[in-house]
Amino acid sequence: MLTINIFVFLLLFSSSKALSCNHIDHHSLLSFYHHISSTTTLNWSSSIPCCRWEGVACQNHDLRVTSLSLPGRALSGTLTPFLANLSFLSHLNLSHNHLSGLFPLSLFHSLNRLKTLDLSFNLFSGLLQPLESSGSFLPVSIRTLDLSSNRFNGCVDPSILRRAKNLISFNVSNNSFSGPIPSFICRSSPFLRVLDFSMNQFSGRMFDGIGECSKLQIFRAGFNFLSGWLPNDVYRVRTLKEISVSNNRFSGPINGSIVLLSGLRVLELHVNDLSGGLPTDIGLLSNLEQLKLHTNSLSGSLPPSLMDCINLRTLLLRNNLFGGQLSSLDFSKLHRLQAIDLGNNSFVGRIPDSLCLCRSLTAVRLAINALVGPCMASLRSLTHLSVATNNLSNIVGALKTLSNCDNLQVLLLTGGFHDETSIDDNNLWRRSGFQNLQILSLEECNLTGQIPSWIAKLRNLKVLDLSNNRISGPIPTWLGEMPDLFVLNLTKNLLSGNLPREICGLQALTTDKTSSDLGYLALPFLLNGQEYNRLFNLQRGLLVGNNNLSGNIPGEIGQLKLLQVLDLSNNNFNGSIPDKLSRLVNLEKLDMSGNHLSGEIPQSLTGLHFVSSFSVAYNDLEGEILCGGQFHTFSAASFEGNHKLCGNVLKRKCWVVKQVEMEQPEPEPEPESLWFDILSFGLGYIVGFLAIRITSLSL
Ligand SMILES: *[C@@H]1O[C@H](CO)[C@@H](O)[C@H](O)[C@H]1NC(C)=O
Ligand SMILES: *[C@@H]1O[C@H](CO)[C@@H](O)[C@H](O)[C@H]1NC(C)=O
Ligand SMILES: *[C@@H]1O[C@H](CO)[C@@H](O)[C@H](O)[C@H]1NC(C)=O
Ligand SMILES: *[C@@H]1O[C@H](CO)[C@@H](O)[C@H](O)[C@H]1NC(C)=O
Ligand SMILES: *[C@@H]1O[C@H](CO)[C@@H](O)[C@H](O)[C@H]1NC(C)=O
Ligand SMILES: *[C@@H]1O[C@H](CO)[C@@H](O)[C@H](O)[C@H]1NC(C)=O
Ligand SMILES: *[C@@H]1O[C@H](CO)[C@@H](O)[C@H](O)[C@H]1NC(C)=O
Ligand SMILES: *[C@@H]1O[C@H](CO)[C@@H](O)[C@H](O)[C@H]1NC(C)=O
Ligand SMILES: *[C@@H]1O[C@H](CO)[C@@H](O)[C@H](O)[C@H]1NC(C)=O
Ligand SMILES: *[C@@H]1O[C@H](CO)[C@@H](O)[C@H](O)[C@H]1NC(C)=O
Ligand SMILES: *[C@@H]1O[C@H](CO)[C@@H](O)[C@H](O)[C@H]1NC(C)=O
Ligand SMILES: *[C@@H]1O[C@H](CO)[C@@H](O)[C@H](O)[C@H]1NC(C)=O
Repeated sequence: MLTINIFVFLLLFSSSKALSCNHIDHHSLLSFYHHISSTTTLNWSSSIPCCRWEGVACQNHDLRVTSLSLPGRALSGTLTPFLANLSFLSHLNLSHNHLSGLFPLSLFHSLNRLKTLDLSFNLFSGLLQPLESSGSFLPVSIRTLDLSSNRFNGCVDPSILRRAKNLISFNVSNNSFSGPIPSFICRSSPFLRVLDFSMNQFSGRMFDGIGECSKLQIFRAGFNFLSGWLPNDVYRVRTLKEISVSNNRFSGPINGSIVLLSGLRVLELHVNDLSGGLPTDIGLLSNLEQLKLHTNSLSGSLPPSLMDCINLRTLLLRNNLFGGQLSSLDFSKLHRLQAIDLGNNSFVGRIPDSLCLCRSLTAVRLAINALVGPCMASLRSLTHLSVATNNLSNIVGALKTLSNCDNLQVLLLTGGFHDETSIDDNNLWRRSGFQNLQILSLEECNLTGQIPSWIAKLRNLKVLDLSNNRISGPIPTWLGEMPDLFVLNLTKNLLSGNLPREICGLQALTTDKTSSDLGYLALPFLLNGQEYNRLFNLQRGLLVGNNNLSGNIPGEIGQLKLLQVLDLSNNNFNGSIPDKLSRLVNLEKLDMSGNHLSGEIPQSLTGLHFVSSFSVAYNDLEGEILCGGQFHTFSAASFEGNHKLCGNVLKRKCWVVKQVEMEQPEPEPEPESLWFDILSFGLGYIVGFLAIRITSLSL
């Protein structure tokens, strides 16, 4: 018995000894373990030799711990000072956890074999600087330092890197660092290949220094508050493949020397305040794949040499002041071009046919005085086309051409077509045309006739905008059967008849089947002057304002419980406001103004907790204005033009109204008295206006 026990003990002892790490390391790891907690368990038990603990690796000959790697293990807590005793550690990866506390610089100071330190995606905070007394710094061995996506702040202190001459990658993105970009970093670490300062609060001009990183490949500093322009020594760094400095306050022209960086693949300068033109020999950047210059003040015409950037996949130039003839450009060499955005510039001329030779094109946004040549039918991979125009003709021809682009998901043809057309033409409907369309906007296209019945066949349609046209006739009941439709904008047309009950059955507004395909779009699209990157961010809306609709508001509208915007304004709706409107619990905007609605405002509407914009102005409503829920935030403008409504917000006491009602039924205003009202209102306005002018002059 005893012998067996001893035997077992020896066996266990020897096997654990076989892979049990050095006892100093063992102590350090145990201390590490006791400083953290995890929602899942690590197999760090005493019965398992520590070199076989999860995330631990040792070197074979002396069982010293060389690597500790526990990314994404839901660890919280702080780092123990005992880690400093893992003197053979070369790889420490604790990214994607919830570790917190200050950056333990003194801990790493003595780890003079440490090559990789990845603490990204944690909750470390405070300054990145040595403690006053210790004067510690990162060891000479360090090659990769990733402190990104934490909560560090303050300036990056140069002294912590003064020994780090082997550093290759430095990522401090997505923190709250401030002060100037530490350009000096290249003096102590001249072999850096990756520098990422993006998403912080770095500010001011950048100074020379980066140029000393003669092997730099990636430089990112986007989403900061940097001003001035890149220092001239950057153009010395011929190894650069990526410069991403978007979303800053850079200004002035792009230095022509940038074409010396012939290895550049990614150049992202968008959302700054850059001016001037593109370098005329930009074609020297023949490796360029992504050129994003949108939202600056760049001007001039596009240099023909741009078409020598034959590796371009993404060319985004929207929101600039570029101009000139587009047709003079030959796009035919850009075989890899996938997305081109020229919107909101001042180009003139036809869309060049050579653009149709870019067979990889999936997304096109143009805003010029020319439409869709027939050649566009050959762009089979096109998924996104946005043409904001202002003086075009033949929308039917354009739609016919585009119905050949089988992959089209987004089609925005907004702008003033000068010829008045009906598109209720079933010839438009090819059997397979537009089957993938998700967004169709024909806003302000001077359309007449009825809502075209071929739209019923677009079973993937999610957004339909036919606003600002002259479409007449009824709202067709089949619209209610569109399975995915969640934005229907028919504002400003000549539609008549009732609001069909069938519309209240729109599935995407009645049942929450959070669709996964509301993902990112190839290009952001503009709707109501706002840019959307994802369909998901669009407000779910039913908008039929400014038409000639009549009858009651159907109570069934309460079924559309996902609706965020409901606009029924400026029609001829009558009857009372249905109580069931209160079921629209997601509603943020509700406009029923300018109709003939009567009766009281249903008490239940105070339950609409998200409504921030509300109007029932200019109807025939009566009774006391509610004060529960959001109602105390609405101003008089939400209720004006209803003579029988009363309440504090209208400064009309309810008992006065009731008394008046009892004494005499409210008379129809006589024509003269109406004129008198208008006159006195106008006079009052003028007097008020003068008073304001006088007071503001006397100030
Ligand atoms: C401890 O867990 C890790 C990761 O799950 C595993 O690779 C290792 O084999 C485990 N060790 C033992 C002794 O079970
Ligand atoms: C390990 O580190 C701690 C804290 O830094 C220190 O107090 C201790 O003496 C060290 N232990 C060994 C065995 O080196
Ligand atoms: C750390 O681990 C994560 C997750 O496995 C990995 O993506 C990351 O590249 C690692 N960091 C380094 C510097 O190797
Ligand atoms: C820096 O880290 C962030 C995550 O915090 C990552 O998204 C980014 O790609 C990294 N930068 C580089 C240049 O690898
Ligand atoms: C920035 O950091 C936060 C917090 O760690 C994280 O949730 C977010 O995904 C990070 N953003 C990027 C772009 O890496
Ligand atoms: C452009 O950069 C070069 C260095 O490559 C420099 O000599 C020149 O002065 C810069 N031009 C301007 C306008 O800053
Ligand atoms: C067009 O671009 C200018 C300049 O960048 C910008 O100010 C304006 O808001 C843009 N217009 C639209 C509709 O995006
Ligand atoms: C609009 O186009 C028509 C014909 O294409 C032309 O006659 C007219 O002058 C143009 N109007 C404007 C304002 O450009
Ligand atoms: C719409 O068409 C009519 C008739 O052709 C024309 O008079 C009107 O100017 C057009 N409207 C616009 C905004 O182009
Ligand atoms: C609907 O169309 C009108 C007129 O074009 C526009 O003002 C409004 O912003 C649009 N609303 C939505 C939600 O698309
Ligand atoms: C509005 O509809 C009514 C019928 O409901 C019709 O009599 C009237 O002519 C229409 N008004 C306009 C401007 O179309
Ligand atoms: C609403 O208007 C219709 C005509 O459009 C009329 O027949 C009906 O009686 C009116 N209903 C109310 C309650 O005023």
